Amino acid sequence: MRRPLATAAAALALMIAAGASARSARETAPTPEELAKAREAAMIMSVATLARVRAALSGESVKPAVFPARGLAQWAESIPAMFPASTASLTGTRARPEIWSDRAGFEARAAAFTSATRAMVVAAQADDRAALTVAVERTAESCKACHDAYQAPAPDKPAG
Ligand code: HEC
Repeated sequence: MRRPLATAAAALALMIAAGASARSARETAPTPEELAKAREAAMIMSVATLARVRAALSGESVKPAVFPARGLAQWAESIPAMFPASTASLTGTRARPEIWSDRAGFEARAAAFTSATRAMVVAAQADDRAALTVAVERTAESCKACHDAYQAPAPDKPAG
């Protein structure tokens, strides 16, 4: 009885030690490549999240839109930090150089996206379908406005 317990405790101690060293090995800032991968993932997930908000418009209450709308609002606030100058020279991303040469313009697009997503949160919390409908359209327009100016077309298809 005692021995298996001791073995388990030793195994646990080893696992904790391994976890601790893995953590300390990652106590560095993300690389530019890691940042680009994370922001691209968040952009892709934004499509599904906005669809989730939109789907709530056909429900009895629009309150289920609060959760996905909050996620988008939080992401919107993070966008400028996800495009630091250290990622400007990466190849294989669709970030246009104008993000850095016209930083004020890019941040204004991100701010418009933040404001539109916050309006979705407020409308969903109030269960206000008409206001949510308007805010969803504003949000979709703010995605497109930023892409038109700062996202390069996909290599295999035209811009959109
Ligand atoms: C402030 C600017 C900005 C806003 C707002 C914005 N995007 Fe993006 N988006 C970009 C940029 C720049 C890229 C290219 C990033 C890269 O390749 O590193 C991008 C890439 C994407 C991609 C392609 C990801 C990939 O690599 O395959 C999708 C999909 C996307 N965005 C969806 C959205 C949706 C949906 C919204 C709104 C809910 C949105 N974006 C809002 C700037 C923005």
